[in-house]
Amino acid sequence: MRRVRLLLIGFGNVGQAVAELLLAKDGDIRSMHGLALQVVGIGTASHGAALDSDGLNLGRALELIQTGSDLRRLSRDPVPSDVQELLQAVEAEALLESIPVNYESGQPAVTYLTGALERGMHAITANKGPVVHAFAPLTALAASRGRQFRFEAAVMDGAPLFSLWRECLPGARLQAFRGILNSTTNLILSLMEQGQSFAAAVAEAQRLGIAESNPAGDTEGWDSAIKVAALVTVLMGVPIGLGQVERRGIEGLTDREIQQASQSGHRWKLVCGAKRIGDQVEARVEPELLDSSDPLFHVMGTSAAVTFTSDVLGELTIRENAPGPRTTAYGMLADLLNCVLPAARAFDWFASNRRG
Ligand SMILES: NC(=O)c1ccc[n+]([C@@H]2O[C@H](COP(=O)([O-])OP(=O)(O)OC[C@H]3O[C@@H](n4cnc5c(N)ncnc54)[C@H](OP(=O)(O)O)[C@@H]3O)[C@@H](O)[C@H]2O)c1
Repeated sequence: MRRVRLLLIGFGNVGQAVAELLLAKDGDIRSMHGLALQVVGIGTASHGAALDSDGLNLGRALELIQTGSDLRRLSRDPVPSDVQELLQAVEAEALLESIPVNYESGQPAVTYLTGALERGMHAITANKGPVVHAFAPLTALAASRGRQFRFEAAVMDGAPLFSLWRECLPGARLQAFRGILNSTTNLILSLMEQGQSFAAAVAEAQRLGIAESNPAGDTEGWDSAIKVAALVTVLMGVPIGLGQVERRGIEGLTDREIQQASQSGHRWKLVCGAKRIGDQVEARVEPELLDSSDPLFHVMGTSAAVTFTSDVLGELTIRENAPGPRTTAYGMLADLLNCVLPAARAFDWFASNRRG
């Protein structure tokens, strides 16, 4: 059994879901892949950091964080004073980073991911900031160290978008995409269609834990826009920032407009899209009034979908139903396994099962 030591930075909704998934999938990962995944370090902003080179007790870490306690109590090795010190002290094969997005700079996540790669770890993130602000340098640094920078969970949670293009569509050229990429606004619009006010729908999204206490990042379209920038940068090979995505959110839509649309068989959706125009890409996020012939019309609640148009496959749609932190956690786990398993090994278990 090969031991793979992991560092988690960020232990909120996503970091905790990663810990829960590691506990739940431990048996499968051992039997399918011969790997024992072990978290040896956890870093947070205000709940301290923990380090134990023999492996932290993840169940206890979850108990501590969920009761508002400090993680330092878990440390058996000297307690790092901050996340930077943790990064320097830990001996791990991969960093799984899930701290809040910084739209302007991607920091401090970019610094953490850089530090991890420099120390010989794979760098895995659920955070869109580093993808948009540092895709090229982090990818180059990873390559120079024989490691990988992966970020599957940054857009559409665990749904394989980046991996699909990286592993399955060699030589294909992405010409355009169109989709619903923000769960919070899609839920708010679905609830408003059922008669709730904007404020009540936002409150419900917050109660479910999917909207931030300040929901402007979602409702003003910033989250959608940074996801569009990430897809354009990585999949279309045209690095763009947030400023190059034409952006309008849903905050201007009135209850009356949404009810009127519904009565006439239409639906407002916050639609993301990009298309190539010569060497450039035109990218946008804006509310669109859709009729029932549009595939996005049927994407309701927290679900999301994207249709890719390529030169070889025409239109190809990926849709995820009711995602959440657990699906995001799976995106990070899949990245990790894809980093540490030789490519062919990922399918050994299936092959031997078929033979058996
Ligand atoms: N929630 C989802 O379903 C989802 C889906 C896809 C992608 N994402 C992305 O995943 C990331 C995390 O989301 P989340 O919902 O888990 O956020 P969250 O619940 O707010 O948790 C953030 C975690 O990061 C820690 N943190 C904050 N600033 C830090 C810093 N400067 N250095 C070290 N740690 C820091 C926090 O520490 P404290 O515990 O001390 O506050 C907390 O543990 C975001 O980038 C988000 O966009 C989330």
